[in-house]
Parts: sequence; C-alpha cells; structure tokens
Amino acid sequence: MAKVLSGAGLRGQVAGKTALSTVGKSGSGLTYRGYDVKDLAENCQFEEVAYLILKGKLPNQAELDEYKALLKSMRGLPLALKDVLERIPAEAHPMDVLRTGCSMLGNLEGEASFDEQAKVTDRMLACFPSIICYWYRYSHDGVRVDVETDDDSIGAHFLHLLRGEKPSELHERVMHVSLILYAEHEFNASTFTARVCASTLSDMHSCVTGAIGSLRGPLHGGANEAAMEMIERFESADHAEQEMMGMLERKEKIMGFGHAIYSESDPRNEIIKLWSEKLAADVGDTVLYPVSVRCEEVMWREKKLFCNADFFHASAYNFMGIPTKLFTPIFVMSRLTGWAAHVMEQRADNRIIRPSAEYTGEELRPVPAISER
Ligand code: COA
Repeated sequence: MAKVLSGAGLRGQVAGKTALSTVGKSGSGLTYRGYDVKDLAENCQFEEVAYLILKGKLPNQAELDEYKALLKSMRGLPLALKDVLERIPAEAHPMDVLRTGCSMLGNLEGEASFDEQAKVTDRMLACFPSIICYWYRYSHDGVRVDVETDDDSIGAHFLHLLRGEKPSELHERVMHVSLILYAEHEFNASTFTARVCASTLSDMHSCVTGAIGSLRGPLHGGANEAAMEMIERFESADHAEQEMMGMLERKEKIMGFGHAIYSESDPRNEIIKLWSEKLAADVGDTVLYPVSVRCEEVMWREKKLFCNADFFHASAYNFMGIPTKLFTPIFVMSRLTGWAAHVMEQRADNRIIRPSAEYTGEELRPVPAISER
C-alpha cells in the first residue's frame, strides 16, 4: 500500500533526483553544479552561469564568446509573434503576455524532436526579453521597438529595449547578479511543474509555459512585485515599522519573507541587498532602502522570519527604473535556464510522474434515479 504523507505541500519529501543544484545543504546555502551561488554572483556573467546549468561546465573564454554571439543572433521575433503581442492590451499582466508569447513561439518554431532541446532553449533565453519589451513598449508607448540590439548581455538587452538607451555598467552588473541568483533552485513549484510536464514526454515550450503559470503566483515568483507594492506605501522607516506591526497583529502574510526550505536565511538575500544598497546610493535614495532594512529588522525581531531573494530585489529593480509589473518576467528570463535543464534531466532518465492521493470523499454509493436527487 502507498505510504500516506502527513505534511501538506509535499514538504520535506524527496520527489526525484537532480545534479543541478543543492538548497540548504552546502556552501552559502545554494549551489549550482557544485559552485556556490555567492562565488558565481561575484565572478561570473549570467551567460556563463546559464551555460554551466544547461551544459554542465563553466565555459572557457572562447566558449563564452561563442555562446553570447549565438544568443545575440537569436533575439529577433517572427512577425506572427509580434502580431499576437500587439493584440494584448496594456492592462494585461506581463506574466500572461510571456505565457502567451512562449506558447505562440512553440507554434511557430516548435521543438520537432528532443534533439532540438538545446536549440529551442537558447532561442527562448535570447528572445524572452524581446517578447516582454516588444509588448510593453508597444502597448504602453505605442512604439514598435527594434528588438535586435547589439548589447553584450541578456540583462543589458532587456534594459536597453525597456528604456531606449544602453544601461550603465552598474545596471548591467546588477542584472548579471540578479539573473544569476534567480537561475536555478532545485524542486521549487515552477520547476516541479516543468518536470511533471516533461515526464509525459511533452515539448519544451509546453513545459516552460506551464512553469511560467506556476511562477506567476504571489507565493512564488510574484512575491517581488507584492513586496514592492508594500514598501512603496511606507513613507519612512518608522512608518514601515508601525504598519508592519499592524500587519503582523492581523496575521497578514508579508511578501518577500520566509522560505519553504531555508530556515534561518536565504543566501541570495545578502547578495542582492548589497547591490540594492549600492543602487540606493547611486540614485540618492533616502526612503526605500531604509524602509526595506527596517522591514527586515522588524520581521526578524518579531517573527524570526528573514528576507528571501525577492525582498531586496524589489528596491533594486525600482532603483533601476523597472516598472513593478515587469519584476516577475525578469525572474522568468533567468529561471528558464533551470527549468530547461530540469526538463533535459527528466528526459534523460524518465518515468511519468504520477503520485497517488489519499481519498477523503464519499464511500461507494449507487447513482440514484434523477427524480430522486
Ligand atoms: N509573513 C508572515 N508570516 C509568515 C510568512 C510571511 N511571509 N511566512 C511564513 N509565515 C508564518 C506562517 O504563517 C506560519 O505561521 P503559523 O505556523 O502560525 O501558521 C509559519 O510562518 C510557517 O510558515 P509556512 O507558511 O508554513 O511556510 P511554508 O513553507 O508553507 O511557506 C512560503 C513558505 C515562502 C510560501 C511562505 O513563507 C510565504 O508565503 N512567504 C511569502 C511569499 C514569498 O515571499 N514567496 C517567495 C518565496 S521565495
């Protein structure tokens, strides 16, 4: 008989194997293929980390140059996809836009066989920023942006399309760090969604489209947007403390805090917090960063709850002029690497994922005649 699990949300259950990352086990708390995320964020560009996650090794200089040139050559969007994006209203949520964009791409450039898995992944990695920004600029500014920029990195490409000018070195570096921190995280909800889909031997675009849907929720990727909406309401650190105390009293969930696996800290927080502080100094902020720090102090003092990766991402993105509703799509631009690598791993040693359920419904009973119901 199948074992019945007592914990909700499959917490603590090993649901499969992976060689891609460890969470809460070694180093600062998060490793990608044996490298500490802290080390990677300090020393690498995002494209190096994407290469590592997808291909299993860190690239040498020639390999990195070649990979970046390949991604750069794949930024363009087919007309039929632009046409679809132009029909999506400005009020749509950008995660829904990306979900549709990914799905449409699958119709136009579908994965003909699993031999194409690396190619279709690289294509998505290269063109997701184009999809987000093409729609955003068209629906909000009425501009059809040329999505084929010559920017050196995915992060710079995104900022350039969004703001119409090349980003500063500081902003490009922060994008590298942010995309590295979000790239992979073991069996989180969206990755597990992708793996379940992959286990049916479905195509890469379906796996990624499903994962985007899972990441959209505020308990997962949507937390950075929800955190931003909260902190921008606070006028000062003292005001933040007063409001937070009220929220805690009312037992409200505070977005950007807590984690399903980490118990004392999220290693990604320390890194993005540092960059948020640098950006605050760069823009001369005297409110948002101190407000964020006070929120962190209050949550730890009152509840022993710590900031997860999303909390200081909110202020960091805000300082770079990124609209709040584009926060979670940036997460997708990065986590796509983890999702695709997990799909490839699942395919390499597959059995359809099909758990059982503990039945809590009615006992067996006959169907009554319709006149007796
Ligand atoms: N604000 C307030 N209380 C929180 C909290 C938060 N952000 N996160 C956890 N708690 C409380 C829970 O209410 C619960 O209290 P209880 O035992 O009195 O019911 C306790 O801490 C345990 O948390 P729990 O919700 O069981 O943890 P989980 O593993 O089920 O959930 C998260 C993990 C991440 C979903 C949860 O912490 C959360 O919802 N955080 C906010 C959303 C977020 O930032 N998500 C991004 C994750 S990277």
